[in-house]
Formats: sequence, structure tokens, C-alpha cells
Amino acid sequence: MKDRVKKGTDMTDHIPFNRANLTGNEYLYISGALESGHISGDGRFTAKCQEVLERELGAGKALLTTSCTHALEMAALLLDIRPGDEGIVPSFTFVSTINAFVLRGARPVFCDIRPDTLNIDERKIETLITSRTKAIVAVHYAGVGCEMDSVLAHAERHRIAVVEDNAHGLFGKFRGKYLGTFGCLATQSFHETKNFTCGEGGALLINDPRFIQRAEVIREKGTNRNRFFRGEVDKYTWVDLGSSYLPSDVLAAFLYAQFEHRDQIQSRRRRIWEYYREHLGEWASRNGVQLPFIPEHCEQSWHMFYMLMPSLEQRQAIIAHLKQRDIVSVFHYVPLHLSEMGRKFDGKEGDCPVTESVSDRVIRLPFYNELSEAEQARVVSSVLEFKDNCDF
Ligand SMILES: Cc1ncc(COP(=O)(O)O)c(C=O)c1O
Repeated sequence: MKDRVKKGTDMTDHIPFNRANLTGNEYLYISGALESGHISGDGRFTAKCQEVLERELGAGKALLTTSCTHALEMAALLLDIRPGDEGIVPSFTFVSTINAFVLRGARPVFCDIRPDTLNIDERKIETLITSRTKAIVAVHYAGVGCEMDSVLAHAERHRIAVVEDNAHGLFGKFRGKYLGTFGCLATQSFHETKNFTCGEGGALLINDPRFIQRAEVIREKGTNRNRFFRGEVDKYTWVDLGSSYLPSDVLAAFLYAQFEHRDQIQSRRRRIWEYYREHLGEWASRNGVQLPFIPEHCEQSWHMFYMLMPSLEQRQAIIAHLKQRDIVSVFHYVPLHLSEMGRKFDGKEGDCPVTESVSDRVIRLPFYNELSEAEQARVVSSVLEFKDNCDF
């Protein structure tokens, strides 16, 4: 049973894009949660996970959630986002970054990205700010920090909230400080594709203590149940907006097992990332392929390895080339301003030229904790073969 989960597939030659793996104590802790009789939210393992996040990151308060999407929804509720408000987001991101705000009636304002880190281009934020701007959502793409000094300066000048969508960036740092500790609120993802997972899960990091009490209420269906359990009120009741955003303690048990091995996971992923960088560097510079750029003041989270091909045609061709060799590579994101929904908010071609170009050219290589060196060598040699088939 354990081996099935570990290997995930019987096809030995097949290299998937992602594969969840166990780190050791997942079954033990899940049994512990089951045996304790407490398998709903906010049990022993939820508290342990939250404690790791608070202690390691120095975050004021961490609340586990059912996903990063839900943590973002909580952020939009906490910021009292209302119809007519505007939220500035990079167009190059996952839909949840902005959908959470649009759910509250906000209008998305799409910002282009920097051509080097693919993060929101802080130099373009100022022109997008209006009297209706309520939030800037900074996404640390690939776990490399946005230029937070500048993002925070714009926000402070205009009294706008900064939320960090740190789905990719747990344990990454900007100028020596952990990602997720800059904005008043930040969100994490523990989806299967992330460095640390419980299948589906997330967390809200609360760096401004004024949000803590209300966040607990929103996460508990709009009730003051947490205060009741702490003995602060004698009954619990409906006090605010809210929903069901807390994960089962069974999931938290799985996640805690992964957190326990955080150093091993991160160093394993670092080796994988560095192997790609080392073996593809020369090929990339010969062929006009851009590899990830990590500014000196950033420590990345080793979340993914992407490449920017010279053109859309070459990106499609290399994905097909790898697929023929039973290697799965993927691309993302479709620019949000050009999505079906984005166009309803007046998004059009040319609004975010860097995003549009990057989105056509980006490819992500297989990247997961148990990617073996032999598998990785096969991915690399397949990529290196590509030049023979392609008219660079
Ligand atoms: C930048 C970003 N934000 C949010 C999410 C949503 O995460 P979740 O699946 O935990 O809701 C993702 C998912 O990959 C993401 O890449």
C-alpha cells in the first residue's frame, strides 16, 4: 500500500510532471488522528502545523485552511472587499489569486510582470492605482520574492492592503525575511503539486494582529466557536460572514508528517533544481532559452523549474518532443486578462505584453521530491536532444 502511493505508477519509463510522495510518518499520524476521535478541524495536528508555520516563519498567526483558494477568499472577506473596489494582480497567475476578490464584487486590475523573475512589475503598479484600489496581491512566482520594498511603498503611500499569494513560496526569503510575512495577510497552498502537501490544503498567515479574531470567525462559518472553546464566551453563535474553511485534522496529520521533514524536502528539491540549472545552462544560452533568474537578495523556495523558449511554436514542439519520450512537461498560466472572464473586465491583447509573451513560451519540467537522478538525467538528455529536431 505504502509503495503504491510512493511510486504512484507502474510504468517505469514514464516520468510524470508531478507525483505526491510520503516522507515517513504520514500513516502513523493519520492513525493518531483517527484514534484520538478528533478528525474534524482544529485538532491536535492542525495546532502542530500552525505552530510550525508561526515559529519557523515568525508569522503572527497561521490558520490552516482547506486550500490556498479559500485562504484568499478569507483575505478578501477580511479586507471587506465590496462591489466597485479594485484589486491589482499580476495577469500571470492562477485564477484564484483574483477570483477570491471578484467573488466579493471587486474589479480585477491586471498588472504586467517583470521579464526576469516573472513577478508583478512593481514599476507598473503606481499607474494602476485609483481611489477604488483596495488591495495589491503579490504572487511570488516560482517561490522567488516580488520586489517587496517597492510593492509595500506603493501600498503604504496610498493606504492599500498588500496580500501575498505565497502558494509557491513557503520558506523562500526576500532580503533575509520569509515570504508570507510582508503583507498584512498571506496565503499558502498545500495542494499535491506543492513542496509540502496534504492533497488539498492551505493556510492563511496573519501578520496584522487586528485581523486574527475576525479570521477565526470567518473560518468557522461566521461563528465565534473558537472563543467558546477557549471559554471566552458562554455560548457560540453567528456573529459575522463566514464559511467552512478549516480542514479535517486527518489532512493536518498528513501535512505535519511532511513539515517534520521540511529540511530534507527542501534540500532534495534544491538538488533537483540545481541539477537542471547545471545541465541545461549551456544549452539554454546557446539556443536563446531563458532559465529562471534568482536576484541576489532572494532565496527561492525550490518550487519549480521552468524555461522560456524563444517562441510558442518551439514551446509546443518541445512539449511534444518530451511527450514522445514519455516525459510530461506542462505550461501555465493563460494570461488572466485574456481569459474568458478577464475579457469581461475589458482585458485585451497588448494590455500586458510581457505576460502574453511569457505565457506563450513557458514550459515547466518534471519536478517532485522523489524525482530520481536517473529520471532527471533522462529529462535532461531529452531536452538536449531537442535542438536536433528544431530550427532554433
Ligand atoms: C499562485 C497560486 N495561487 C493560488 C493557487 C491555488 O492553490 P490551491 O489549489 O491550494 O487552492 C495556486 C495553485 O496552484 C497558485 O499557483
